[in-house]
Amino acid sequence: MANLNPHLDKLSSYYFFQDIDQRAKALKAKDPQAILLNLGIGDITKPLTPHLLSALCSGSQEMGDKNTFHGYGPSQGYPFLREAILYGEYKDLGISADEIFISSGAKGDLAQLQELFALDSRIGVTDPAYPVFLDANVMAGRTLHWSEEEERYRGIVTIPCLEENRFLPVPPDMTCDLIYLCSPNNPTGAALTRQKLREWVDYALQHRSILLYDGAYEAYITSPDCPRSIYEIEGSREVAIEIRSFSKSAGFTGLRCSYSVIPKNLRASLNGQETALHAYWKRRQDMKFGSVPYPIQKCAAAIYSPEGQAEVKERLSIYQQQARFLLDGLKSMGFTAYGGIDAPYVWCKTPEKMNSWDFFTRLLEQAHVISVPGKGFGKSGEGYVRFSSFADPQILAEGLLRIKQIVGTL
Ligand code: MLT
Repeated sequence: MANLNPHLDKLSSYYFFQDIDQRAKALKAKDPQAILLNLGIGDITKPLTPHLLSALCSGSQEMGDKNTFHGYGPSQGYPFLREAILYGEYKDLGISADEIFISSGAKGDLAQLQELFALDSRIGVTDPAYPVFLDANVMAGRTLHWSEEEERYRGIVTIPCLEENRFLPVPPDMTCDLIYLCSPNNPTGAALTRQKLREWVDYALQHRSILLYDGAYEAYITSPDCPRSIYEIEGSREVAIEIRSFSKSAGFTGLRCSYSVIPKNLRASLNGQETALHAYWKRRQDMKFGSVPYPIQKCAAAIYSPEGQAEVKERLSIYQQQARFLLDGLKSMGFTAYGGIDAPYVWCKTPEKMNSWDFFTRLLEQAHVISVPGKGFGKSGEGYVRFSSFADPQILAEGLLRIKQIVGTL
């Protein structure tokens, strides 16, 4: 009989967001009349903007004509999209188009980039964190079993993001080989300031670590002292891989298009020799990744046209206003809440003495509002729930009203 990867057994039986979904479905099965309001998973709710849709359609039309159709695409993505990203996102930051790798979702890259590194690498993961960072390393076998007592996987360095530090992670006092950072952060909504990011880059330069920098929500940054890209920090091209997505910035959660930047002077040790990672990721993508469909890459490139920029900016500003509305609404009810300024997520403290799963359940069962319990993002997420602000304004308003109605009962 074939043997399964034994590390699979260390994972919880459901992926965290599936678990939330199952609980919402169970409530609906019990109470079919319930109208659930989804402020849980961060999925966009507004359709593609007209200019992007038109690029998607014309890209698809090209596929139906012998003279313009496209077969296998380049595994690194079409040059037209890499160039568009370069000029739209990284002008003057010292990045070149062949350092950009187009992919089908930041989630996949964040899960797979660890394949480049040795199994005995010491991994640092912020807590709370997007569950993919940890789960991918658990599956790869870089952790020991889950410890109920410590409420974490042994073998991983946990970097707490706490209220007293404004949820900004502080570099650990030991060497980690690989560190996952997410800014603006999912779930806390906190964005790293230039000074904090400088500290991380200095740490990585000093310890010869590599930072996996998840910038999936960079488009939401409004604070002037928070850089959009880690490459704004000098020295970062020697230590950081940046992973970004069009999902939340341009409405691509259903289309799947993202990119990772692997600078050529990013190096790690291979058999004792300093070696550039870039060629190995290229090698890996050539073998494992089949490219993002041509019409989707056309659609993504249209984001960088003047019309695309205007539409996407307008859309983002609506989501940003919604995030503030949610933040202010929760605060006005007396909740202590964070985020919502540089991110679409609001990180809300649970009522006193209520843990995050209990609060999630009370919101679900009494208010029919779906949130995400902070504990699911890690031990330091205990005492919080995360609300997402992507729902339509009337849903957000109704959600806040329903929460207000149950506040007195909590
Ligand atoms: C979230 O809700 O955290 C995200 O939308 C999930 C994801 O991007 O995979």
